[in-house]
This record gives sequence, structure tokens and C-alpha cells, in this order.
Amino acid sequence: MAVYLADTSIDPPVLLAPMAGITDRPFRDLVARFGAGLVVSEMVASQEMVEAKASVRARAELGFGQARTAVQLAGREAHWMAEAARIAEAQGARIIDINMGCPAKKVTTGLSGSALMRDLDHATGLIEAVVGAVSVPVTLKTRLGWDDALRNAAALACRAEAAGVQMITIHGRTRCQFYKGAADWAAIAEVVEAIGIPVIANGDITGPDTARRALAASGAAGVMVGRGIQGRPWALAEIAAALHGGAEPDIPAGDDLVDLVAGHYQAMLSFYGTALGLRVARKHLGWYMDGAGTPAALRRAILTAPRPETVIALIPDALAAAPERRAA
Ligand SMILES: Cc1cc2nc3c(=O)[nH]c(=O)nc-3n(C[C@H](O)[C@H](O)[C@H](O)COP(=O)(O)O)c2cc1C
Repeated sequence: MAVYLADTSIDPPVLLAPMAGITDRPFRDLVARFGAGLVVSEMVASQEMVEAKASVRARAELGFGQARTAVQLAGREAHWMAEAARIAEAQGARIIDINMGCPAKKVTTGLSGSALMRDLDHATGLIEAVVGAVSVPVTLKTRLGWDDALRNAAALACRAEAAGVQMITIHGRTRCQFYKGAADWAAIAEVVEAIGIPVIANGDITGPDTARRALAASGAAGVMVGRGIQGRPWALAEIAAALHGGAEPDIPAGDDLVDLVAGHYQAMLSFYGTALGLRVARKHLGWYMDGAGTPAALRRAILTAPRPETVIALIPDALAAAPERRAA
């Protein structure tokens, strides 16, 4: 059931996807508290990490004591990637993940992220540099291909495996699809068949039912969940319990939900400081309120409040209508 990368086990094989601006340290800690096989940092730009911009280092902050954290690096140049990997390992990263899936124009025009799928020789050189730089396992996250004419995830995966990558996550879309259409889990099977290392299926998995269907269609060793966990930090634990046995997570309701949301809010304020924390917290609060069906006027009051004390005071009312248990 578990996925093993050298002496690191991912158990259960239910992973939190890296999401820039979302899977920061406070959110990763919260998800890990419910239980997760692995949580992955937001993408960190390798050159900026080496050049030590404070905000970049903060994004990679690992949560020491949090064993199941991977740091995801993005970049185009082997020497920056290798150096950034060394720094992340020295800070305590247990796994280094390489981003070859980001579709954003500002990343692909710098020929990073999913643009690397258009130049497999270059992509391979980059992987070799990272694998050669660290002793922790190196993993790769990518898509099915650049577009329908270039669906080369299996070819990239073969090269990555030969270069020493120990696990590959495939988002079941091409770069040119961005987030449109449905993830094609069956297409991930081609990668599973092409390589011997574990493959993780990603895209549109939100709960036990979609996780089961993604695994059945792809034959993957595990699942990674991104958007489906927004406002539901217990979602990975729910999937793990349904698919791999073990205790059902205690999904908070009533006062427990208020405590969870207020605690997450305070953690964001401490991590980012009040001014930035207020802004960063809004998207998470919005997702919690989506789940609770918060009335529009109250929602607006919370999302525009200039002072944290006002937000904290309004959270109980905002969550008052939350259902006992939310379906995925
Ligand atoms: C806001 C946002 C930010 C993302 N940031 C990253 C990132 O930093 N690195 C990465 O590899 N993928 C990133 N992704 C892609 C997700 O990891 C994931 O592959 C994608 O959302 C599909 O999975 P899902 O349907 O479970 O969300 C991001 C996605 C979203 C929505």
C-alpha cells in the first residue's frame, strides 16, 4: 500500500499537491495534522532561492519536525536547480520535487515548468543535476504533455527514471489545456506501464469516489489532491481512510470547526505578519465560507474587515450554518 522511495515511505499514498499561494506552511501543517502521506511546498524558484530573497526562502520553509514534506523547485538552469536543491536538503527537505507541469505563461516563457516537456534533452540534464546534488529522493511532477500533438509524459518519465528520479506525479491534462476539461486519468496508465517507479495520479480528485476511479483508470500507486482540499483540510485523511483503512478523520463541526478556522487564521497572521496575513487569509476564509453557506453580507464583512479582531469575532456566525458533514 505504501510507496517507498529509498528509505522514505509515503504512507498512505495520498498526497497534498503543491499550490502556489495556497500550500504554505500554515496550510501544510493543518493538512498534516489530519494525516497525509506527503505534503509538498509551493513551487520555489530555484535561482531566487539561491539568491536568498527572504520571501522565497519563507515559501520553502519546511516545518522542521514535519517529516513528510517535499520542497518543489522550478527553474530552467541546472546549476541553479542543483544549488537550490542542496539548500533545501540542508534545511531539512526529505524529498526534492521538480516542477515540469506549471502552465503559467510567466513560468513557461522562462522555459521552466511544463515548457520543459518541449525539450526533453534539457529536461533530462536538469533532472540529472538535481539528482547528483542531493542524497534525498528526487521526484518529478508533470502533465500528459505540452498539447495534444505532444503527449510525451511517458518518454519524459522513462528518461527521468533512468536519471534517478524515484516517483512521478502526472496531472492528467496537457499544458495547453491549463485547467479546462476533465483530467484524463486513463491516459496516465501509459506512464504507469512505461516505468518501474511509482506514479501518482493527479487532477480532479476531490474525495474517496474520484480517488478510487482515478486509481482504477490509471493503475497509479497513489493520488495527489489540489483544489479539492481548499476549505476541507481533512480531505486527504478522508480519502486515506476510505481507500487504505484506518480511522475516519474527525471532521470538525460546530465549535470545533470554529476553532479550526480561527486557529488556521491566527497561524497565517503569525507566519506572514498582520498586513500580508490579512490578505493571504482571505482565500482560505472564502473557501471555508463556501462550505458553510455563509450569507453574502456576512461574507463581505469578513473579507473586507481591516482588523483581525473583527474577523475572529465574526467567524462563529459565518460558520453557523455549516453542515455536520460535507460531501466531496
Ligand atoms: C492556485 C494553484 C496553484 C498551483 N501551483 C502549483 C505549483 O506551485 N506547483 C505545481 O507543480 N503545481 C501547481 N498547481 C497544480 C496543482 O498541483 C495540480 O496539479 C492541479 O491543480 C490539478 O489537481 P487538482 O484538480 O487536484 O487541483 C497549482 C494549481 C492551482 C489551482
